[in-house]
Amino acid sequence: MTSLDRPDVALASSWAETIAEFHAAGEQHVHGAGLWEFDTVDVTAAGCRAVVEHLVAQADPATPLADNRVHCSYFWITDGDGADREVIGFLAVRHTLNAWLLEEGGHIGYAVRPSRRREGHATRALELGVAESARLGIDRVLVTCDDDNVGSRLTIERGGGVYEDSRNGKLRFWIDADRSAG
Ligand SMILES: CC(C)(COP(=O)(O)OP(=O)(O)OC[C@H]1O[C@@H](n2cnc3c(N)ncnc32)[C@H](O)[C@@H]1OP(=O)(O)O)[C@@H](O)C(=O)NCCC(=O)NCCS
Repeated sequence: MTSLDRPDVALASSWAETIAEFHAAGEQHVHGAGLWEFDTVDVTAAGCRAVVEHLVAQADPATPLADNRVHCSYFWITDGDGADREVIGFLAVRHTLNAWLLEEGGHIGYAVRPSRRREGHATRALELGVAESARLGIDRVLVTCDDDNVGSRLTIERGGGVYEDSRNGKLRFWIDADRSAG
């Protein structure tokens, strides 16, 4: 069953496999993974620990950020229980919108590893991400996608996204977080 987990070194092995799978598929930018501050991704246990520390800090309002950055809660999309729990993707909830996020990026970014697509994981993860947004006090969640990204558009529409407009090649949808909470 699809879940959202906080980044955790206990999941280092499937996290590394997931990153490697994205890269092998030619997807260097992994939406929602929060890796843009790392020039290269060190997929060793030590590298995972550094990523986890970085990601957890981004959610803390006390963490100082560079100009224009906003605090963000990172989640690893997981499937399975107990020892079988494994990372299958990423989801990020940005706590506020800066000018670029309002135009193009939105509150929530996500990606599912290539081998686990078309199983409903993104749909369920977005639903959980919207509930997390409601807990953060976000009433209306902006979710965007490239205008040719059919899978993401359908995911957003399944999640109750109401289309507002398109800007710079991005489709912009709003989801009522209160309605989705719970
Ligand atoms: C977009 C993405 C997150 C979808 O993940 P997923 O787990 O496969 O999505 P789901 O299984 O929940 O599918 C949601 C809907 O989209 C459809 N769908 C998914 N991928 C599709 C594709 N490539 N083409 C057509 N439809 C697609 C599914 O059939 C489903 O529709 P349904 O409800 O009518 O059955 C995944 O393809 C991905 O990670 N892409 C790369 C990163 C990315 O684009 N992230 C979004 C950034 S805005």
